[in-house]
Amino acid sequence: MPGASASKRSLAKAKAAACIALAAFALGCDTRASKPGPAVSAEDRTRQTYERSCAVCHGPRGEGKQLGTMTIPSLREGPPVNKTDAYLFTQIANGGNGMPPFKFTLDDRQMDDLVRFIRKEFQGKK
Ligand code: HEC
Repeated sequence: MPGASASKRSLAKAKAAACIALAAFALGCDTRASKPGPAVSAEDRTRQTYERSCAVCHGPRGEGKQLGTMTIPSLREGPPVNKTDAYLFTQIANGGNGMPPFKFTLDDRQMDDLVRFIRKEFQGKK
C-alpha cells in the first residue's frame, strides 16, 4: 500500500525533526549548565579543607584553644611562625601529641596547600 509507506516516511521525517529539536534543546541545556558558575578557586577549596578538618581544634581563625586537657596551639603566632614549611607539613601529615595524622585522608598537594594557607591567611606571609 503506497499510502501507508508514504505516511511511514513522513512519520520518520517527523521523528527525525523531533530528534534534532530535542538534541538542540539538550545541547542548549548543556551549555547553560556548563557555563562557569561561581568559581571555586584552589584557595577556597583549601579553606574548606581547613574548616572541615582543622578548625574544630585550631579554631576558625587558627587562633588555637584549650580543648579539655589538650592545648591546641595557635597557628597565627608563636612556634609555628618560625618553624619550616617542611616541619608544618610533617606535623599535618603525621600528627602527634593529640593531633591526628592527615596523610591518610589528604594528599600531598592538599597538605602543601594547607601550609601555604596557614602562612598567608594566619601569619600574613606569602
Ligand atoms: C584533634 C585536634 C586537632 C586537629 C583536628 C588538628 N590539629 Fe593541628 N595540632 C593539634 C595539637 C594538639 C597540636 C600540638 C602538637 C604538639 O604539641 O606537638 C597541633 C599542632 C599543629 C601544627 C604544628 C604547630 C607547631 O608549632 O608545632 C600545625 C601546623 C597544625 N597542627 C596544623 C593543623 C592542620 C592544618 C590541621 C587540619 C588538617 C590540624 N592541625 C588539625 C590538634 C589538632
